[in-house]
Amino acid sequence: MTVPVKHDNFKRCDQSGFCTRHRVYADKAAAEGSHRTIPYQITPESLTWKNSQLQGTIVKTINASGETVRLPIVISFLESGSARVVIDEEKRQKGDIELRHNSIARKERYNEIEPWTVVGGLDLSKSATESRSESSTTVKYGPDGKFEAIVTFAPFGIDFKRDGNTEVKFNDRGLLNFEHWRPKVEKVEPEKKEGEEETKVEEVPAGEDESTWWEETFGGATDTKPKGPESLGLDITFPGYDHVYGIPEHAGSLSLKETRGGSGHHEDPYRMYNADVFEYIMDSSMTLYGSIPFMQAHRKDSTVGVFWLNVAEMWVDVIKEKEAHNPLSLGIGAKTDTKTHWFAESGLIDVFVFLGPTPKDVTKAYGELTGYSQLPQEFAIGYHQCRWNYVTDEDVKDVDRKMSKHQIPYDVIWLDIEYTEDKKYFTWDPLTFGDPKGMLEHLDKSDRKLVAIIDPHIKKTSDYHVVNELEKKDLGVHNKDGNIYEGWCWPGSSHWIDCFNPAAITWWKSLFQYSSAFVSAPNLFIWNDMNEPSVFNGPETTMPKDNLHYGNWEHRDIHNLNGLTFHNATYQALLSRKKGELKRPFVLTRSFYAGSQRLGAMWTGDNQASWDHLAAAFPMILNNGIAGFPFAGADVGGFFGNPEKDLLTRWYQSGIFYPFFRGHAHIDTRRREPYLIGDPYTGIITRALRLRYSLLPAWYTAFHEASIDGTPIIRPHYFEYPSDEAGFAIDDQFFIGSTGLLAKPVVTEGAESVDIYIPDDEIYYDYFDYLKYDDKGSKKIDAPLDKIPLLMQGGHIIPRKDRPRRSTGLMKFDPYTLVIVLSKSGTAKGELYVDDGESFDYEAGAYIRREFEFTEGALTSKDLGKKGKLTDKYLKTMKSVGVEKIVIVGAPKEWAGKTTVKVGTGEARMEWHGEEGGKAAWALVKAPKVAIGDDWKIVF
Ligand code: NOJ
Repeated sequence: MTVPVKHDNFKRCDQSGFCTRHRVYADKAAAEGSHRTIPYQITPESLTWKNSQLQGTIVKTINASGETVRLPIVISFLESGSARVVIDEEKRQKGDIELRHNSIARKERYNEIEPWTVVGGLDLSKSATESRSESSTTVKYGPDGKFEAIVTFAPFGIDFKRDGNTEVKFNDRGLLNFEHWRPKVEKVEPEKKEGEEETKVEEVPAGEDESTWWEETFGGATDTKPKGPESLGLDITFPGYDHVYGIPEHAGSLSLKETRGGSGHHEDPYRMYNADVFEYIMDSSMTLYGSIPFMQAHRKDSTVGVFWLNVAEMWVDVIKEKEAHNPLSLGIGAKTDTKTHWFAESGLIDVFVFLGPTPKDVTKAYGELTGYSQLPQEFAIGYHQCRWNYVTDEDVKDVDRKMSKHQIPYDVIWLDIEYTEDKKYFTWDPLTFGDPKGMLEHLDKSDRKLVAIIDPHIKKTSDYHVVNELEKKDLGVHNKDGNIYEGWCWPGSSHWIDCFNPAAITWWKSLFQYSSAFVSAPNLFIWNDMNEPSVFNGPETTMPKDNLHYGNWEHRDIHNLNGLTFHNATYQALLSRKKGELKRPFVLTRSFYAGSQRLGAMWTGDNQASWDHLAAAFPMILNNGIAGFPFAGADVGGFFGNPEKDLLTRWYQSGIFYPFFRGHAHIDTRRREPYLIGDPYTGIITRALRLRYSLLPAWYTAFHEASIDGTPIIRPHYFEYPSDEAGFAIDDQFFIGSTGLLAKPVVTEGAESVDIYIPDDEIYYDYFDYLKYDDKGSKKIDAPLDKIPLLMQGGHIIPRKDRPRRSTGLMKFDPYTLVIVLSKSGTAKGELYVDDGESFDYEAGAYIRREFEFTEGALTSKDLGKKGKLTDKYLKTMKSVGVEKIVIVGAPKEWAGKTTVKVGTGEARMEWHGEEGGKAAWALVKAPKVAIGDDWKIVF
């Protein structure tokens, strides 16, 4: 069953005033071409250079009589090598404007995003230099002064260069369009007849369509726009770049498509306006639940990026133009310029520019600003069993027992909204969940956890202490008149907590204390849903834009940040559940913004039990990863509808590669816990789950990596092979961390094989039977229903744990298996990161980080850790955890007949198995008796 999205509930560009205005502006600019006078110029005498910052004023000429508006600009050159361009409006900075409708909203443009999103990387450069001419100024900055920003005064524009090449251009097409504040001019109709009432008409400046400036109605709701038009637009061109990625969340390809129509292109710009999109459609630029306005542009051997720090509704047009006719191009092939055009409804132009040159450099620089991905508790990367709803506490225990009985590993069982009494969060329905404590204790026996949902809407009813406190303390979002806002969601009439308010966070924390009325426990964690926010009777299923938040900021100004602030409040609340207990919180969020990656996981919302939704998940997760939020997943099995058995099976075989791995289903669907589906499916799914669990050491190591430098957990082709143009658009296969594991799960109905693209001339082995693939290009891999297409690239060492258990917690002290996958030259390298999987002690050195290397016939384990206060104490707890076996794939022929290897002064047994039918030779070392935390050497 596939039902199309209720698209009509959400605006298309031509239904959004400012979106239409910016597109019209772009079209006019293109039509006028070189005859056009661009109305923005920097006044050179306003420019100052101090501490690596250029400050000055852009003057916008607003009419034929030469009237101007002043737009202060600050360009900062940062020590990290990033540059930041901020453009504001002087009149509004000074509060020198009037709002209509007696609005009490703030007069400034929203300028408080930074504390929510930016955590570092703002130190100003110590070495940037400026040199000015009459018409422009040039700043040299970045590593070894390799970067340059050339700011042209009239018209205003900036070219960013690396090693002398222009990589990013601002206002190249002259689409900078800053809608300045203006009073609404009303004039008396001249030909008023006697006896008639005076009518007022609006004065329309020539050539401008004012119809959506002062008021806009959509779906029966009217936005009163007390500040009038205030949107901003800017074109950003990437010369010579033919791929752009990022700006999640959309259901479409990783490499973004063009958006101005035509065959295979989107009709609308990519929209970012966090929304509860019910039954969303595939291959679309329409908005979804979260937004990250960070884009990477990529061409052979070069990646650059931009991040627009703005949390209002935003749209991005993408067009690609062949540069073949450009006489200035150096003629190396036909180049493409990707031309993007960004527009936001309100706020500032505040754009960061990252000049790479590698994808890793760009992701790292972006992460330095917004933070790296949370290192989650280890259980959180196991399997999560969810549905709407497990109906009683007995039901939960029953599912738990059956998973154990069928030896299906899982870590977390989830409760959706029905566990509450009448959708009052922080309560348990006494009839169905009479013993939450007993349920939590039951789960804890297998080291399993419970996640319960808590949404931001608070039921408006008199007998509910939570809403009473919210009202009394005035911690809710307000309507445009300053009264508490009331809307409709699951509980019926509700208020919304305003997590922009610090007092709301303090209060929220109090609700989660172990000592509070809500039965909380160390193995209870939280799911934040509906935090776009979803408001069933609101415009586009969210809040009216003229609602007011803490500090009297309009909802319009902060909308895309709303989800993050709620997620943050819950994260803070879990951190503070008990004094002295510092465990890493786990909070899943549906809505997100740049920075949300520090707080937990996200998932792609309400997908469907269909093959196209299964296929769509990987591009979405990959895109989230390169936009800095890799702890991502999709509902396994599909949320709406009942998956056929083979679809469900293929979905589990895919889901084991989602960084966040959860099965979930709508309340109207049939039960589908893996043990219910029956054999052979249950067996196949169980084997897939065991594969995830046995590779957990590799996954956790990849999560660790993401947490220190922002590298995605599953990585698209272009990220790992930035020179291989043939792979830049590939988004259905990926690498897992730095393990060399290359997966291409089956996502099409009835497929019995997949074609996997091998990017280099290294040798690759099938994960399961060591079948060899030894040259570059597309390879066919057989993939009947019980087979997952997964290859190991030569040259890596993959850590595993091979003893099947019920949960990650029970595997904590299990021994390791090391899989040495030899390269063509007979070498391999790999890393392992281990810690206690729950606390923050790793910050004080309580972890193990090893580098394994196989070279010249010997395997060594070397310490990569930095010693801290808690290192020794932690290592003691790991003393008895060792390596139980070592598998060497591609073992040399010379080892035939060899039965032992040297381990220090002792030895261990080894078996060698010869090559057979294209399957590589391999060897097995049994019980080498080396500890995982020690330095050692094994000689083969
Ligand atoms: C919407 C969420 O996307 C879905 O996962 C959840 O089951 C329902 N809300 C009910 O809470």
